[in-house]
Amino acid sequence: MFDSLELLPPDAIIGLIAEYKNDGRDPKVDLGIGVYRDATGATPVLRSVKTAEKRLLETQDSKAYLGSAGSADFNAAMRDLAFANSTDKDRVAVIQTPGGSGSLRVAAGVILRTKRVPKIWVSTPTWANHRPLLGGAGLTLENYPYYDPKTRGLDFDAMVSALKSAPEGDIVLLHACCHNPTGVDPDRAQWQTIADVVVDRGLIPFVDMAYQGFAADLDDDAFIVRHLAERVPQMIVSSSCSKNFGLYRDRVGALMIMASDPKTRDVVQSQANNVVRTMYSMPPDHGAAVVAEILGDDELRQGWLQELTEMRNRLQDMRRLLHRAVSDAASGHDFDHLVRAKGMFSFLGLSPEQVRRVKADHAVYMINSSRINLAGITPANVEHVARAIAAVL
Ligand SMILES: Cc1ncc(COP(=O)(O)O)c(C=O)c1O
Repeated sequence: MFDSLELLPPDAIIGLIAEYKNDGRDPKVDLGIGVYRDATGATPVLRSVKTAEKRLLETQDSKAYLGSAGSADFNAAMRDLAFANSTDKDRVAVIQTPGGSGSLRVAAGVILRTKRVPKIWVSTPTWANHRPLLGGAGLTLENYPYYDPKTRGLDFDAMVSALKSAPEGDIVLLHACCHNPTGVDPDRAQWQTIADVVVDRGLIPFVDMAYQGFAADLDDDAFIVRHLAERVPQMIVSSSCSKNFGLYRDRVGALMIMASDPKTRDVVQSQANNVVRTMYSMPPDHGAAVVAEILGDDELRQGWLQELTEMRNRLQDMRRLLHRAVSDAASGHDFDHLVRAKGMFSFLGLSPEQVRRVKADHAVYMINSSRINLAGITPANVEHVARAIAAVL
């Protein structure tokens, strides 16, 4: 049976990690993989997470099954983090999922069970796994323009005009903040216009919130979730705790589906639970228990907010540092978009050949699209990175 299968090439980013590891040059810089790093290049366990884990070790008295929806405490905390008071709590079905990816996959499962399965509109470009994940689950995807390489900003008019052409009932996938891979987010006025189109066209918003707290703060970053929740009858939100709690490998996320009324919410909840039951039965517990512990305890929560602020500030500092260094090294080239963008990612605007050369000649690693993770920049390596970029321009 298995000899009928074909060998797949390694995932591009995984291949890049391996190549970086085996590169003996010094200095070498990894701007590829999408995890947060501190100034020493480490991806540390947050202090608040360590404290919560110690508490759990002492107090947890059972590892018995929790059920397909996961922890009720975690789910309520995630719902409040996303929606605050923007909607009635009893209209929101919530389940704990294995990361944001699990949330997207379960959402696809629920969408596929509806009578007239809608198409789902995704930005060009979007996170590299959106299409494989949602399309692979069986959904049909359409694209809407998003990033304008000429301005290195939002192609707002083209985006709005594409969304205006979407048929009623279709789903539009939006990134709540820190758009991956561009770092370009709509401003408040643009979000309001996008919401107007969603309302006018009767579209169903699906907000992917993988970076809440990485752009401005927890509330500001959830603006579009809360704004839409006040204006539309139904919507989907996928949340991830991979970045803002640094819980990448523990696989922590939540799927939230706001229904038009509490009765429909119960139906949706039963369907989502069943999708999970028939796919992986139940989510892993540990990471979600840690998040519930942190969000449910004032002191731990304050500590976590402090750490989240530190991560956010470092990303913004590194944006400014790289902007200054590369503007000096490559005078005549405009890199202002680096300081306009938010979160971990930005495009440098290099061609695949230039990306190959910064790697081959300068040991600076990034993915082919020239998307860089700003968390890979440190005060110690920024000059090297800036010189490498300038050398290939
Ligand atoms: C836009 C976006 N959505 C979802 C995810 C999923 O994250 P995870 O499954 O690791 O929680 C990511 C991770 O990089 C992302 O960038």
